[in-house]
Amino acid sequence: MQGKLSAQDLTFTYPGAKQPALKQVSFHIEPGETVAIVGPVGSGKSTLANALPRLLNIGPGQLFLDGMDTTQVNLQDLRSAIAYVPQDSFLFSTSLKNNIRYGDPQATIAQVEAVGQQAQIHKEVLNFPQGYETLVGERGITLSGGQRQRTALGRALLIDAPILILDDALSSVDNQTATAILQILSQGTQQRTVVFISHQLSAAAIADQIFVMDQGQIVQRGKHEDLIEKPGLYQDLWQQQKLEEKLG
Ligand SMILES: Nc1ncnc2c1ncn2[C@@H]1O[C@H](COP(=O)(O)OP(=O)(O)O)[C@@H](O)[C@H]1O
Ligand SMILES: [Mg+2]
Repeated sequence: MQGKLSAQDLTFTYPGAKQPALKQVSFHIEPGETVAIVGPVGSGKSTLANALPRLLNIGPGQLFLDGMDTTQVNLQDLRSAIAYVPQDSFLFSTSLKNNIRYGDPQATIAQVEAVGQQAQIHKEVLNFPQGYETLVGERGITLSGGQRQRTALGRALLIDAPILILDDALSSVDNQTATAILQILSQGTQQRTVVFISHQLSAAAIADQIFVMDQGQIVQRGKHEDLIEKPGLYQDLWQQQKLEEKLG
């Protein structure tokens, strides 16, 4: 699997809903590209993220992985090509090491440390009493929201899937760290495809392309430098976020 993604008039309506959550969404994402998806709450970002690994029942002929219709791809093959990280991932009452290597229990400590570094949690882990052997959960330490999210990211990175989807998965991580993480992921030599769904526009700004969603549609797309110049939703969201930052 190379990690090319495309959609052709992707439309999806939740059972019983009056309005489709996705309306004729079309896009192309090349292998190794980093794409950010931004937009107001309820605009369809998570629905799109869930459609990719077929967590939702979408119709045929609309979503493609490496040019293959995802509804025709063996579900296990599809899911193993896509590492999906939600906002809240479950951490087990075991060591950080075992949490990170959950998808590959044979992984070495060097592999665990490498993804810990990419996920920007390594330095903090070294400050814990037993490093990666530190227990988390009921019998161990309580991690902050951002630490939990970065641990979950490390777990997803260890699987080394060609496609990584982060659905608000860094929401509790500060903007600067989130930006650093996205930079590391997009510069990787492994050419992983990254779909970064976020409200953190300063991090999203470094993506190769940005999709701006509103009411189930991609209403704007392009690079940050271009979108910021055009009147529209992206510019509004950007100005709003700058204002909020200023007001603290
Ligand atoms: N499980 C569901 N059942 C019915 N409607 C849903 C479900 N999940 C989301 N929706 C609706 O679909 C639309 C898009 O939601 P979502 O994809 O979660 O948006 P976002 O991630 O951008 O906040 C919203 O109108 C939301 O209320
Ligand atoms: Mg969402």
